[in-house]
Amino acid sequence: MDESKRIVEASKLTEEDRSETSLRPKCLDEFIGQDKLKNNLKVFIEAAKNRHEVLDHCLFYAPPGLGKTTLSHIIAKEMGNSIRMTSGPVLERIGDLAAILTNLSEGDIFFIDEIHRMNRLVEESLYPVMEDFELDIIIGQGPSAKTIKLPVPRFTLIGATTRAGLLSSPLRDRFGIIEHLDFYETEELVRIIRRAAEIMNIEIDADASKEIAKRSRGTPRIANRLLRRVRDFAEVKDDKITCDIAKEALNALGVDGAGLDKIDRLILNVLVKNFGGGPVGIDTIAVAISEESDTLTDVYEPYLIQSGFIARTSRGRVVTEIGYKHIGVTTPENNFQKKLL
Ligand SMILES: Nc1ncnc2c1ncn2[C@@H]1O[C@H](COP(=O)(O)OP(=O)(O)O)[C@@H](O)[C@H]1O
Ligand SMILES: [Mg+2]
Repeated sequence: MDESKRIVEASKLTEEDRSETSLRPKCLDEFIGQDKLKNNLKVFIEAAKNRHEVLDHCLFYAPPGLGKTTLSHIIAKEMGNSIRMTSGPVLERIGDLAAILTNLSEGDIFFIDEIHRMNRLVEESLYPVMEDFELDIIIGQGPSAKTIKLPVPRFTLIGATTRAGLLSSPLRDRFGIIEHLDFYETEELVRIIRRAAEIMNIEIDADASKEIAKRSRGTPRIANRLLRRVRDFAEVKDDKITCDIAKEALNALGVDGAGLDKIDRLILNVLVKNFGGGPVGIDTIAVAISEESDTLTDVYEPYLIQSGFIARTSRGRVVTEIGYKHIGVTTPENNFQKKLL
């Protein structure tokens, strides 16, 4: 499956890098939604500043596109420090880590994206760094090998992950602040779309922004992407974005009224037609639709579950009544929900 073609793909597409930077909220007050998390962060940032200490290490976990990277930039800005960014798979050797750590200044933010994909040795060498701000480096080999402790400036590590469950507990335990980002409500996405439209200088009707919001799978990155695509349709028609244009554009893009695209509907159809509605294991579904199970778990499944189209049971994934209804198939009598009644 070519992911770059997927309009509701929540991961970042390369050409989006630039436009994402311009749309990224710069401070906590511009960051829409996630109120509980924002309020907590405000308190932690304020307290750390008052004590002239660095902020505790933070772990953000959420599906792609909900604002983990954005929040990390905002934290650096609010703390008045710089941010260094890398990702788990890039840190191949302890030397890669040492190179970054020794270049940090006191109070800097060190951001590791996809922290669950860090190599085990690098991860373990991070433990003393997080606790005591000392990196253990082994010099030499065999009996004459020595460990030296390299002091590093006090900094804040921010880890981002799509799946907290894949993080080892020694690593997770070393984060003082662990926060989960939720999918956004339609009303919040409306505000995100209106803000983006203003920055991009696009005129958009209120009901049009609502229509786009409803189809954005609770994800700001997708909301911004759909807005850009709908704008293309509006420009060709030489009009502002009206609800009709938004609907027409979204339908043409294959994004249905619930924000599901071709692949989401394929997943529901395969579950129903090939597996009697489940329960089916994630690996089996992955094979049936020729997709990686990781992508299925990170990208497709969270929203399908969150909106109640499928449910996760101890024996595998099952299609709910809402899921059956969505693809226009009558729920069978032996559906797990009917059996519960
Ligand atoms: N709370 C928010 N308010 C406004 N825009 C947001 C918000 N969260 C995310 N965005 C937008 O969505 C884009 C993707 O967010 P990002 O932080 O890169 O997600 P993640 O790192 O979780 O994959 C950002 O560039 C930004 O434009
Ligand atoms: Mg990110």
